[in-house]
Amino acid sequence: MKLVNLGCGQKYHKDWINIDFFSSNEYVIQHNLLEGIPIEDNAIDVVYHSHVLEHFTKSDGFYFIEECYRVLNKNGIVRIAVPNLEIIVKEYLENLQLAIEGNVEAKNNYKWIKLELFDQMIRNESGGDMKNYLYQPIIENETYVYKRIGSEAKKIRDSFLNKSVINNYDNNEIKLKVSILKSLLKKVKTIIIKIRIGKQKKALTEQELKALKIGQFRLSGEIHQWMYDRYSLSELLREVGFTEIKVCNAFESEIQNWETYQLDVINGEVRKPDSLFIEAKKL
Ligand SMILES: C[S@@+](CC[C@H](N)C(=O)[O-])C[C@H]1O[C@@H](n2cnc3c(N)ncnc32)[C@H](O)[C@@H]1O
Repeated sequence: MKLVNLGCGQKYHKDWINIDFFSSNEYVIQHNLLEGIPIEDNAIDVVYHSHVLEHFTKSDGFYFIEECYRVLNKNGIVRIAVPNLEIIVKEYLENLQLAIEGNVEAKNNYKWIKLELFDQMIRNESGGDMKNYLYQPIIENETYVYKRIGSEAKKIRDSFLNKSVINNYDNNEIKLKVSILKSLLKKVKTIIIKIRIGKQKKALTEQELKALKIGQFRLSGEIHQWMYDRYSLSELLREVGFTEIKVCNAFESEIQNWETYQLDVINGEVRKPDSLFIEAKKL
């Protein structure tokens, strides 16, 4: 079986062809998917992408799904996970109403769900306000946040809290030295980049430099540029030519041995619970 994971990020499996902007490892091919999928026609049995489609504009998304169709074999399966706009909007409306009625828990949930809806689209810096929310000393609605976006949020928060502990208490010398060394290296790297960019950008004003920085970030693949629900994603798949379109959950799949790859579920836990999961076939 030939399996492809597009925009895999850190979630790759060695049995799959893994592709991303950034290659984090020998199993990941570095490629910009906006230039198409670097695979010939009718060559693949399964195309999977999780939380990638929403990073493309609506028209680039259409082209991307066309590309998925092109590379699949007859009877090939596409499996897509995206943030579920329908549920986000439901959560927003429910918490809005309760917050107006004075429900304290809903007020916090309302703050969070608005971040899910907007922050990922409008942010101009990596992590945006979502990161700031996760880095608060106390998160009043921590359980709700983890229920929404899963254990990855907990990992981000834990790594931040652990770093704070390392900084506050000199109780782990090796970890401290490594982290100092890493941050020194990062600073040196930043200085080198700044010198290099500085040489090229001397003619730019401060405003132009700011615009360039924002533009570079917004093209880096982190922000959301469109959103989907079970209706619009099914329609998109149908328009491109896919059939047997099915909304499923993280555990269900037509892909053989799906559970063994641990892509949507890790040790029985759904990795991204805010997702809409959809599968379709090229007949
Ligand atoms: C939110 S992450 C999801 C990562 C992974 N699929 C997962 O489920 O954890 C989005 C990924 O899409 C990648 N990406 C975004 N735009 C891309 C592009 N034009 N070409 C290749 N990869 C892209 C990013 O580098 C990032 O790894």
